[in-house]
This record gives sequence, structure tokens and C-alpha cells, in this order.
Amino acid sequence: MSHDRGSIARLLIVVAAGSLVIQAGCNDRTTPTSPTPTTTDAPAGTDVEPLRVAAQASGKLVGAAVASNLLGDGRYAGVLARHFNYVTAEYEMKWDAIERTRGNRDFGAGDAIVAYGRASGMQVKGHALIWHGSVPGWAGGLSAADLRVAFENHIRSVADHYRGAVRAWDVVNEAIADSGPALRDTVFRQKLGDQYIADAFRLARQADPQALLFYNDYGGEGLNQKSDRIYDLVQGLRAQGVPIDGVGLQMHISATNPPSTANIAANMSRLASLGLLVNISEMDVRIRDVPGTLQARLDVQKSVYHAIVGVCVAEPRCDGVTFWGFTDAHSWIDAQFGADDPLLFGEQYAAKPAYYGVLDALWRR
Ligand code: XIL
Repeated sequence: MSHDRGSIARLLIVVAAGSLVIQAGCNDRTTPTSPTPTTTDAPAGTDVEPLRVAAQASGKLVGAAVASNLLGDGRYAGVLARHFNYVTAEYEMKWDAIERTRGNRDFGAGDAIVAYGRASGMQVKGHALIWHGSVPGWAGGLSAADLRVAFENHIRSVADHYRGAVRAWDVVNEAIADSGPALRDTVFRQKLGDQYIADAFRLARQADPQALLFYNDYGGEGLNQKSDRIYDLVQGLRAQGVPIDGVGLQMHISATNPPSTANIAANMSRLASLGLLVNISEMDVRIRDVPGTLQARLDVQKSVYHAIVGVCVAEPRCDGVTFWGFTDAHSWIDAQFGADDPLLFGEQYAAKPAYYGVLDALWRR
């Protein structure tokens, strides 16, 4: 994942020097006003001001990826319902989770997340209809003609099942390559051709005419070759009249080199100028490589969350921010990048400085 170095980086040099002084030009926002609790006196997540109230005041959605098997955990469910008004299934609505054997679809786990969302006054985002990372084993080996049938049946049946229950779908996820030719060389591209992306959006629209349809990806949050390719892809889809409503910027970032707020803002604005919505769809901020004490790392993380969530709040076409989880007790980052504390609430569900950074950004302060 290549990121352009942002102004936030200058902040790190100051922290490394052991004093937290936010230099002018660090970011275009006033210094966060909320207190920064230390790791010892952090209040419980269920006792602090709800993020969803601040988000509502700013007209934004504040979301989290959730795991259905944790909804029975009172602490998990309590913090989730208090703070978030938008949920995304972390895995339960992916192809290989729903259709483990061909033609047998199990919607149970995804339905549990929809039911929980409804009961908690939350909206739901479906994720993700077509992703090379969740192709069922039986589908990968099909002939091109047979994969076409399975591909169409999958999108129709899943979008139809959740029609009226989801506000939006990530229809196609991570179809742009990190380097080399523009489109990622997936089984979909190999057997269905480049057209598979447009086909997926058309099929989703037919099956659920009300749902907002997003293209979702990582590594293209700021201004770089990948975000240029994402821009070219969605501009081309719009020009062909393909029903696409927006772009999701995943924002799996490290606090050591986050994309600059100016570049994220410019990227969001050019996507918005195509008539598209944008959102931050899977944010988490890794701090394991940030120099200094744990408190210093948590303070840097707070500033990164504050600055980047602030970009979405300031962009009228950004409909919200979703975090890829919300407690450090349950994050994919540990397995993917190594043990870390990437989210807003700690392992014991205490409110971290990051939570206050997000709260202040949602209140536009
Ligand atoms: C990840 C989940 O968090 C993991 O639990 C799972 O093992 C793999 O998928 N981009 C995406 C998400 O679009 O769907 C991925 O979620 C993380 C990267």
C-alpha cells in the first residue's frame, strides 16, 4: 500500500521529541478540545458521550464493522449500540460465507446483524457482493460460462434477500491492482472479462433498486496512481450509464505515514464532482511503529483520527465514516499486520484518546 506523506507526519517528529506541540499547518483544524485520558483513567465506552449524537448533528453516518458471533456479548453490544448508527457485516455477507456449497445459501449470520441494527435504530451496509478475497472454493474452478451463471445468481439472490434491509452495498471491492495493469487479475476478470464490474452494478440495481451502490477499495485514499485509477474506473462507469452511486475509501492506515488531509479532501472532491457520494468505509489506524511511549502513540492516533474524520465531515458528499471494528479486543489488524491497538475503544472497552479525536471531528471542533 503506497501513501503520500501528509502534514500529520510533521507531528510525529514533535512527538518523538517527547513534547506534543501541534505545529501550524499540521492540519486545518483547531486543536482538539476533548481531554486525552491516560491509559489508566479512561472512562468506560458505555459512559462517554455517544458518537452517533455528534454524527447526527453533522448529518453524517458513523459506522462500525461488526461480527455476528459477538452480538451476544453485552459489553460489545452495549458500546456498539451507544455510539454507532451504521453497521457493516465484517464477513457474514461475503460470497464464501453465504454460499459455502453451490446453491445452498445461509443468510443466518447476516440476518442477525440486520436484526440487531434494526433493533438499535441503525442502518446497514451490505459488504461485499463481489470480492476476489471471498470467492467460494467451488466457484473458483468453474468454467467461464458456469462462473457467469453463478456470479449472476449470487448477486441477484443476495441483493434480493436484503432488499429494503440495507441502505447501501459495496458491490465490487478491490478490483484495482496495487501496481502493473490497472485492473486486479482476479478470477472474475480472467473468466468474465473487464466487463464484470459494470455487470455487477447493473445486476445489483435490478435486484435492489433502492440501495446505494458503491465501489470500495484501499490504498487510493489520497492522491496517487491507485486513486487515479479508481477515479478513471468510476468515471468510465458513469460515462457508460452504469448505476454506481459512490466510492468507499477503506482507510486502513498507519499513523506513521497517513495520507495527507489535503490530498484526501482533493480526492473526495474530484469524486464528488462526478456526482458520486464518498465515504470512509473501513478505517483503522495502526500505531505499533509510532515512536515514543504508549500515551504518545495514542495521542498521535487521536490526531490522525481527528484530522481524517474531519475531512469527511467537511465534505458535503461524504455520507459517513465506518471503522473496521471499534474495540482493540476484536480487530483484523492483529492477524494481518501484527499486534496493535488500531481502534477507538480499548481491549476493556474504555474510551481511548482516538474516541475523543473522532468525537471532536464529528462536532466540527
Ligand atoms: C477482513 C476481515 O476483517 C477479516 O476478519 C477476514 O478474515 C478477512 O477480511 N478489506 C475489506 C474487508 O474490504 O472485507 C476485509 O475484512 C479487510 C480488508
